[in-house]
Amino acid sequence: MPDLRKLLDKMTIEEKIGQLMQFSSDVFADDGADVTGPRAQYQLTEEDMARVGSILGTNSAETVIKLQKEHLEKDRNKIPLLFMRDVIYGYRTNFPIPLGFGCSFDPALVAECSEMAAKEAAASGIHVTFTPMVDYVRDARWGRVMESCGEEPLLNSRMGAAQVKAFQGEDLRDREHIASCVKHFAAYGGAEAGRDYNTVDLSEHTLREFYLPAYKACVDAGVKMLMPSFNSLNGIPSTGNQWLMKKILREEWGYDGLVISDWGAISELLKHGIAADERQAARMAFDCGCHIEMCSNAYHLHLEELIEEGAISEEQLDDAVMKVLELKEELGLFEDPFRGASSEKEQALFMSEAHRAIAKKAAAESAVLLKNEGVLPFSEEIKRIALIGPFADEKKALGIWKCNGQYDEVTTVREGFAAALPQVEILCAKGCGAEWNDSDDSGFAEAIEIAKKADAVVLCLGEPDDYAGEGNCRTDISLPGLQNRLAKEIAAVNSNTAAVLFNGRPLVLSRLAEAVPAILELWYPGNEGGHAAADLLLGRANPCGKVSMSFPKATGQCPIYYNRNNTGRPKKVEKEGIRTRYNSGYLDCGNLPLYPFGHGLSYSNFIYEDLTLSADSMESDGAIQAKITIYNDSDRAGKEVVQLYMRDLVASMVRPVQQLIDFKKVEFAPYERKEITFEIREPMLRFWNWDQKFISEPGEFQISTGCADHLLHTQTFELK
Ligand code: NOJ
Repeated sequence: MPDLRKLLDKMTIEEKIGQLMQFSSDVFADDGADVTGPRAQYQLTEEDMARVGSILGTNSAETVIKLQKEHLEKDRNKIPLLFMRDVIYGYRTNFPIPLGFGCSFDPALVAECSEMAAKEAAASGIHVTFTPMVDYVRDARWGRVMESCGEEPLLNSRMGAAQVKAFQGEDLRDREHIASCVKHFAAYGGAEAGRDYNTVDLSEHTLREFYLPAYKACVDAGVKMLMPSFNSLNGIPSTGNQWLMKKILREEWGYDGLVISDWGAISELLKHGIAADERQAARMAFDCGCHIEMCSNAYHLHLEELIEEGAISEEQLDDAVMKVLELKEELGLFEDPFRGASSEKEQALFMSEAHRAIAKKAAAESAVLLKNEGVLPFSEEIKRIALIGPFADEKKALGIWKCNGQYDEVTTVREGFAAALPQVEILCAKGCGAEWNDSDDSGFAEAIEIAKKADAVVLCLGEPDDYAGEGNCRTDISLPGLQNRLAKEIAAVNSNTAAVLFNGRPLVLSRLAEAVPAILELWYPGNEGGHAAADLLLGRANPCGKVSMSFPKATGQCPIYYNRNNTGRPKKVEKEGIRTRYNSGYLDCGNLPLYPFGHGLSYSNFIYEDLTLSADSMESDGAIQAKITIYNDSDRAGKEVVQLYMRDLVASMVRPVQQLIDFKKVEFAPYERKEITFEIREPMLRFWNWDQKFISEPGEFQISTGCADHLLHTQTFELK
């Protein structure tokens, strides 16, 4: 084990600054001959390159081993490089996108996926993943909702913490785990109008209650790194936001780990107009405790001069460098700079049977049965099935953060059914495209023809896999192109039709829901999506996912979320076509979403029989139990996400109409009755009050179960 202090002492200022620089792998593939190449762009000499501390975006053990070897030959201090990557929902084996993870309501399952991803990434020589992304989201126009677990702070917190722990494991030296970097701190998901990188303007109250908890949960879970967000928050971009980065993150939460900027975010302080030049930008970010600069060169060009001037002290620089060295040490890189990266391990792990099995399970558990009027599950006795739509045989459905995922390793719905029902005739037609401007209906006739002949039809619809993710925002989140019309015409000739959806955000499904009797939301389900779809549609798997982000009725309802405040004039009748003057409603649309948070059907029939509280009052240091009795009135085993909601009926500030305070995913055998117990304690009832404190106030609280906007049982108790 090297003496890091000694090592630091022998480093020059330039070498120290090098540890704080990160560039993408293409910079290292560039020999510097091209005067317009990435190296020239960052003004990096051969000597600078030898001092760089970390690299972003390599994709194989072979590359990592080569770069690490070359680096160690050149670096006189022999400090190994750190390799980082966005391993978001899988490395080579892809799982469902995080919005799907959210719908599983199953942190343990998400942890299992993250562990597999960590193993694969570690085999490829990756040391740090820029995961979890725990941005709280309310506006489905924003493309990055796909990377989030949705609109619920408690759910996001549990999912974030589970991912951190699973990626990092007990000991980073074991070579099967990698360090985790939580992002994007803070409130990136609050981008105005759902437009990426846009301004975020939030009250501290909303920020504290909804947006910050999941980052805090990751800090509490021991996350090693944190990334500030691109956006400005109440006027100040996060990368240069002292209040956020110092007061909240360090002073209040006690975070002591590494901070890395987002890509180019330090130099973007100029574009935001809060730094006059890169030198000032470097100073601002450094002052906020941003240790590593990703893909811009403000530190490279200006830190030294800032130190010489005394604007930044050498102790500050040493602290930052020490943190980088400590992480390298914790990962065991000084003893083994390759850290077990090996092509053989990659071969053994990538898309292995075990990883594919988890990917299939996760895809099934993340799917949400949004609607089912008696068509699903399809009978296994069918002779002929028609698979129709742009996603019936589409491999390009992994989403843009697929990492090393390969499209040719994706199982399509057609392939899933061919494997599940080898004796059944499968008819397949695309019908139309999925791009927003697709207007070619020449494929309709063939699609209608096969629908007529089939015993069952699966309509495979959605949005292309580059319609969501960074920079991919939409002003109209309905099904693109002619897909709604296709659905209507197909369901008109065959009523035994179910739609399955591939998409990265809640879409507006109002027209689809009118046209078809069943809708199964798959999201981008990962490599095994086709197998999971067949299992779910045939009843070999029982849908159990619940909506983690509300599905609006119209794009104009965005942002829409269940944990909203009441108004002084709530709309009384939730019906379209009724003029709602002087009520806080729309003239042309109801206020409620089409599918609210927590909604999701099953092939089991879960009856919520009862909710009881163990007492009708609670002392502030006490606890009461809420017991919910649920009966599975069906011959199918199934899982139910039991949700517990709270409403503070009278408080000194307007409180949300519902807030999830706990949930459990519970398995039921056929005809099984279970009593599910939750414990309610005072901290669960707190809010951020006008005096800038988390407090609870005595008074009456309502406790409910069911799902948001469809509460089934309600009881009240008094907090003394
Ligand atoms: C920009 C994205 O905002 C961030 O999420 C990602 O980790 C970095 N690029 C690195 O790829």
